[in-house]
Formats: sequence, C-alpha cells, structure tokens
Amino acid sequence: MAHSFLDLKSIPLTDLQKILTISQTISQNLLNPEIQRNLKSPRVLAFAFFEASTRTKLSFQLASHRLGYQNIILENASSSITKGESPKDTLFNLAAMGIDGIVVRCNDDLDLQTLSAQISVPLINAGWGKRGHPTQALLDVLTLQQKLKHKLAGQKIVFIGDVVHSRVASSHFELLHQLGLQIGVLAPESWRPAKPSNLKIFADRDQALEWCNVAYVLRVQFERHDHQKNNFDSKNYFSQFGLTLEALNQANPSALVMHPGPINHGIEFEEKLLGDPRCLVYQQVRNGVSVREAVLSYVFGEF
Ligand code: NCD
Repeated sequence: MAHSFLDLKSIPLTDLQKILTISQTISQNLLNPEIQRNLKSPRVLAFAFFEASTRTKLSFQLASHRLGYQNIILENASSSITKGESPKDTLFNLAAMGIDGIVVRCNDDLDLQTLSAQISVPLINAGWGKRGHPTQALLDVLTLQQKLKHKLAGQKIVFIGDVVHSRVASSHFELLHQLGLQIGVLAPESWRPAKPSNLKIFADRDQALEWCNVAYVLRVQFERHDHQKNNFDSKNYFSQFGLTLEALNQANPSALVMHPGPINHGIEFEEKLLGDPRCLVYQQVRNGVSVREAVLSYVFGEF
C-alpha cells in the first residue's frame, strides 16, 4: 500500500531507522554501476516544484531513475501556473493522469496534509514552506551516522541562523531528540523558534561553537522575509552569526560543519570551509540520492 510521506513525526521511529539502514546500503553501492537494484514495479513519478530547487529535485530524479521509475516534470515557466492555475489544481490534474506519486515542493499556503487525503496518489514532501523537509533531515542524519560511526546519542548539534523560517530545522526538531541528540540554536532573537522548549538557546557564536559537536548552518531565507532584504545588514550578520574557519578553529576545532545548501557565501558561511575535512556539505548532497531512493521504496511499500 503506497502512502504519502509528509513529515517525520507521524512515521514510527523503527520505520525511519529502516529507511536509514537501507539508505546506508544504497550509499555503499551508489557509484558502482555493476550493482543493479532489484527493481520491483516500474512507476511514473510527477515532479511539481512550485519553489526553486537544485539538490532536492535532481537527487529525487536520480533516485527515481535508479529505481527504474519514469519521471514527468512540471516546468513552471511553461505550465498553466503562468495562467494563474493554482498549485492545488495542478496537483489534482497531475494525479488524474494516472501517475503513481507526486514529489512536491511548495510554500506554506498549500495544505499537503489535507490534500493527501483527497488526492488518489501519494504526495512526497520535497520541502514544504517552513513546515518541513523530511528527506533533508534524514540525509543529514545518515551523514552524521556515517561520520560518527552511528554514535548519535548524546551528540550536541547547534542550528545557526534563520531557524524560524527553516523547514530543514523544523524536520530536525521532529527527529533528532528521538535519536538522543541535544539541540542548540544560535540565532538573532527574531529568528529563534517560538517554542524553544528542549532547545538550548545561544546568543554568542563562540559559546555555541564551544558547546556543540556539530555546527549546522542554515541559509538566510530571504524569500520568506517580508521586505527585510533591504534592511538586512549582511556584514553585521556575518560577523555575529556567520561561520568562519577562524571562529571554528578558535572555539572548537573538532566540531563538524553542515549546511543544506544553497549557501550564501559571506553571509552565513565562509567559502573556505567547503574544502575543510570537517565540512560534510558534499557528503550530505551525495547521501540525498540514497535517502530519497530509500524513501521512494518506503512510500511504495517495497520494503
Ligand atoms: C533547503 C530547502 O530548500 O529547503 N535546501 C535544500 O533542499 N537542500 C534549504 C534552503 O533552501 O535553505
């Protein structure tokens, strides 16, 4: 039985752990063309991305391709979205074509939860407004499991930056405590979560870095701010909240560094960090393929 995949809190932890185990097996063979997955039933997936994407969209496509599925892609610029058709109507029309599932990215206006009960095919969340980005959280956890040899319980991760607008942080808040991690937040006051219970709040970058084992930098979500971009002082922000090689080396040279991409260089993150062995950004990207392959298999009841 296929089912939608919209958030992490409604999926049993044992299922999430199974997804991670399967992702790890896939990741070990990711670059080995000799190894073919045992394809069960060919499917057609529709991709409806109403917000921009590079990593998530292409890695879902690659994952789907590796499973032997076919993809049909809604191209926003040439679709009836330009004539004013709503994302909701678009999804109903895609489902009517006899496809097997829809990988969807949208803003908070669309109620995917309600739609998933009305639409005949599973909806797979590829980034839903500020609410969640479950496959991103899973691929981050897989990356940490690989790096820390599965010793996640007791680790301390600090989310740095625009936490309140981040769907990546939202999904992590649904999962990481369940895995025994402690979560910190370093953010300007107006970007801290409204309900910070269970979160350790920091105002000072060095203190946050000293505390953590993992520094997870978030992109400043300019597109979700109301007319703030012109008032945003990026130099000041970078000096207080930006992650630099120097700050990391001084405060905590053993901390790992993550970022979901895309990166605003010089605003939240110093480009030099990308080449540093503590920086896991490209391992995160690679794991996106394995995790999304496992999630698609899970959605279609194939394990
Ligand atoms: C994130 C997203 O779009 O939610 N990126 C991603 O999927 N890798 C994070 C972001 O855009 O800030």
